[in-house]
Amino acid sequence: MTSDARRDDYLRALGLADWQYRADGPLGGARARPGKALEPGMTGSNEAAAVVAAGDEQTVAAPEREVAAPAPASLAREPEADAAPAPTPDADTGPAGLDWDGLEAYLARQDHRGASRPVFGIGARDAEVLIVGEAPGASEDAQGVPFVGRAGKLLDRMLAAIDCSRATNVYITNICKFRPPDNRDPTPDEVAADWPILERQIDLMAPRLVVAVGRVAAQTLLACQTPLGKLRGRLHRYPRRDLDVLVTYHPAFLLRSPQQKSKAWADLKMIARHIRSFER
Ligand code: URA
Repeated sequence: MTSDARRDDYLRALGLADWQYRADGPLGGARARPGKALEPGMTGSNEAAAVVAAGDEQTVAAPEREVAAPAPASLAREPEADAAPAPTPDADTGPAGLDWDGLEAYLARQDHRGASRPVFGIGARDAEVLIVGEAPGASEDAQGVPFVGRAGKLLDRMLAAIDCSRATNVYITNICKFRPPDNRDPTPDEVAADWPILERQIDLMAPRLVVAVGRVAAQTLLACQTPLGKLRGRLHRYPRRDLDVLVTYHPAFLLRSPQQKSKAWADLKMIARHIRSFER
């Protein structure tokens, strides 16, 4: 399918088929960096239609629900000539310093908290754009790949509308790497347990933009309790990193509340404009 056809397909899904797209307009795809590295098995997707449960995107989290504040970013170090060998994946040393494979192996050794398998992430590991969701659902738990259920299919169409895809120029992961039982929101302990993995993924990837998909991802990444409706539509800074963050609705929410899709389209155009600004 051509990118025009994909965009039309998405706009039709949004009920916005008559929206105009200008080739020289704000929309445009993120470029993968030269020598991009794709995740093994990243083309995997299925037709499973499990709708992932997600809280009302507009709802403020209950006051008692603390969100783990981001830990300080690890400092990137130049390898030294006589440096000791890179740390091996070892539950005792933590994820700092691990490479992609080491980090994935490290995650696999963590407590699965009742999930079938870890869901590490998928996409172009050196893309400029990192998409962060909340946590795996049933389909993701079955396949070990983020966003492969019905919500994932919509996410792929949203990305395709701005010429982005997991196959070429974005990396996709979640705040939590293991499916919370019954698709409930992750607990603060679960967020805290997986936080160092996400931080190390960001170290390794060094994205220029993080897109937080949904309330849980947005509030966790930005270490705030602001409702999603107030976070979207403006650029944020990632706490303690020189990194931009944009926020949009979770596709599972859009499946339940299709009337919000025009706002999601506005978010996508802002994301596309920001990506294009990298080129200047
Ligand atoms: N919802 C998420 O937030 N992440 C997934 O991987 C799937 C559904």
